[in-house]
Amino acid sequence: MMIKGFIFDLDGVLVDTAKYHYLAWKKLADEMGLHFNIRDNELLKGVSRERSFEIILELNGKEMSREEIQECCTRKNGFYVDFISRITPEEILPGAREFLTDARSKGIRTALGSASKNAGIILERTGLLPFFDAVIDGTKVSLAKPNPEVFLKGAEELKLLPEECVVFEDSMAGIVAAHNGGMKTVGVGNREVEGCCDAFIASFTEMTAPVIVKKVG
Ligand code: G6P
Ligand code: MG
Repeated sequence: MMIKGFIFDLDGVLVDTAKYHYLAWKKLADEMGLHFNIRDNELLKGVSRERSFEIILELNGKEMSREEIQECCTRKNGFYVDFISRITPEEILPGAREFLTDARSKGIRTALGSASKNAGIILERTGLLPFFDAVIDGTKVSLAKPNPEVFLKGAEELKLLPEECVVFEDSMAGIVAAHNGGMKTVGVGNREVEGCCDAFIASFTEMTAPVIVKKVG
């Protein structure tokens, strides 16, 4: 099957925001006396805000009401929004903008496929918005990765079949989601996913769009 579309995760793939999600959860966990470290954080990557907090509670053997969970998520988001309010194009990951430009110049359609409800503001502040034919973010999906909903909607908006798309991801949940949706995957930047994706790049400076197509197509 010919590859005609690229679907990109945002946090940790195009922009260096995965660290801010971690720092915001860490701040909340510390304030609440919950155990949480950088290893636990791997389980949260790519996962929706609510599901992320449920995982932290599970790791601590704790339960909370819906309302309390909501309240904690709102607090975490306050910390996160504070971090990203100062984000600039400097925090676009190395080679990402050039890779998007290259792909689009070769006629490959591009979509964002992110679980984040903050994706809009990040795309705007970094100037990445014009690089996408379609933007699917946390405001448009209800099922968290590893459910493939976010990527299937991306393919649909690009008017492509899932098997015509490659997903770029830094999270286990995202790689599994893409495979669940019948798409090829490229792991980016995070060695934890290296064994599970169809191809792996440490950064976008490593490979051009046509090479990726050749490798996974
Ligand atoms: C991305 C990140 C996750 C985050 C999720 C929701 O997938 O990798 O760490 O929990 O988006 O983000 P939000 O900005 O809506 O809380
Ligand atoms: Mg990510």
